[in-house]
Amino acid sequence: MVQPYKHEPFTDFTVEENRQAYLQGLKTVESYLGQDYDLLIGGERISTEEKIVSYNPANKEEVIGRVSKASQELAEKAMQSAVEAFKTWRKTNPEARADILFKAAAIIRRRKHEFSALMTKEAGKPWREADADTAEGIDFLEYYARQMLAIKNGVPVQSRPNEHNQYGYIPLGVGVIISPWNFPFAIMCGTTVAAIVSGNTVLLKPASTTPIIAAKFVEVMEEAGLPKGVLNFVPGSGAEVGDYLVDHKDTRFISFTGSRDVGLRIYERASKLSQGQIWLKRVIAEMGGKDTIVVDKEADLELAAQSIVASAFGFSGQKCSACSRAVIVEDVYDHVLNRVIELTKQLKVGDPTEQDTFMGPVNDNNAWKKIMEYVEIGKQEGKLMAGGEGDNSKGYFIQPTIIADLAPDARIMQEEIFGPVVGFTKAKDFDEALEIANNTEYGLTGAIISSNRAHVEQAREDFNVGNLYINRGCTGAVVGYQPFGGFNMSGTDSKAGGPDYLLLHMQAKTTSELY
Ligand code: NAD
Ligand code: ALA
Repeated sequence: MVQPYKHEPFTDFTVEENRQAYLQGLKTVESYLGQDYDLLIGGERISTEEKIVSYNPANKEEVIGRVSKASQELAEKAMQSAVEAFKTWRKTNPEARADILFKAAAIIRRRKHEFSALMTKEAGKPWREADADTAEGIDFLEYYARQMLAIKNGVPVQSRPNEHNQYGYIPLGVGVIISPWNFPFAIMCGTTVAAIVSGNTVLLKPASTTPIIAAKFVEVMEEAGLPKGVLNFVPGSGAEVGDYLVDHKDTRFISFTGSRDVGLRIYERASKLSQGQIWLKRVIAEMGGKDTIVVDKEADLELAAQSIVASAFGFSGQKCSACSRAVIVEDVYDHVLNRVIELTKQLKVGDPTEQDTFMGPVNDNNAWKKIMEYVEIGKQEGKLMAGGEGDNSKGYFIQPTIIADLAPDARIMQEEIFGPVVGFTKAKDFDEALEIANNTEYGLTGAIISSNRAHVEQAREDFNVGNLYINRGCTGAVVGYQPFGGFNMSGTDSKAGGPDYLLLHMQAKTTSELY
């Protein structure tokens, strides 16, 4: 019998053995830096002339590796191999599909610190953030495997005398998986294996700044016994390969996680019928956020300040769930703001391979430039209270930045910055604070810090976000515990890591036999 699901524990790095294991992970990663990785199409490894080069964002001279880059011709070859493999994979029994995920989870658990250390190098994730990313990927494997076993027999429906009715779920077909760089393992792995365990075959196009961790994951899935053609690995340009696959007549669904603008583009293109296409494409699109922590006047103010700092600056604010807005009731505004400034000034920014670094670099030079532009906008719109400096000479570093006294409709309070910048706004009371919290086009995460029961209940009803947290920060959803996904321009609210997620990759079929 399969053990009940329990999420993968985070590593305690105060234990010397764990610390050494992580350092060993870093050594292992350093031993293979700069290697080349192939495409995987129908089980065949294909090397191309043109490569995507992955660099360390903390040390831009350091090459993490080079992956072959798929052209449209190779994307077409991958599509045809996925179409072919679907014919048999869809009939492979759900237990066998689930077993491959269980085995992959076991392999990755054994190499956990290597996977985390690779993200420290490739994505600039400090130890704790990288460890959480690996744990989340393992959780997705464990959780979705069990979910498949739970739904494999469908749902009972009624039958009349001499009639046998059945209601079950069958896979959709070929899916295109397009993943972001900010959870380069967890989201890439979770979106891929959810589609696969549901009986679909896929083409995985990872983010171009973090393709090496994706290549390592693909190797693990092969080792776990995934048949040829079920998972095809096609790193490539979003505009070239991404558009081609989204438009393709054989694409049955697209599972995208990334920015609002790319998500909208995919949503629109997928709605157009291609020559020979005989279905409506399904789109799962999880997009950006502009997430708020609201602090009430009756609240644990130390908890409020700690929650804002951890949620705003964890992984340099590069989480769709990050707190980029703090809306504080005026009675406690100065107190909370001053404490957040104090805590922020204690954060260590620097090399993420060092254990005590809280914040590493941002993703790349484009991200660095964009965030620094927002810092300038913030200085015009409000008051710079901490940070504001950046240094891109060696890697892409930006100090944790606080902008205070912003109008609720300021750009800093409305647009996704995706960096270590948090804006503060004052509200006259809790009602107004909630109104401000709801005034963006996004609706992903939010939190309130309050000891007023009526206000907690009011937020439960009226704070319009997919993931609402009470008396804690707004990041760190755990698979199987806090299903994750947002409203409005944050996407299709697919709820990754939740009980309904696999069904988005399947279609329900009714059969009725008369005796
Ligand atoms: P992005 O939109 O730039 O890229 C995401 C993926 O889309 C990449 O693989 C990219 O190559 C690909 N892509 C780009 N153009 C494409 C096209 N025309 N067709 C098909 N694919 C294309 O996002 P990013 O910078 O990698 O990630 C950061 C964004 O992701 C932020 O907005 C963040 O909020 C969001 N995000 C959301 C969630 C969530 O669950 N809601 C989780 C993580 C990240
Ligand atoms: N699942 C991630 C979080 O909750 C994005 O922070």
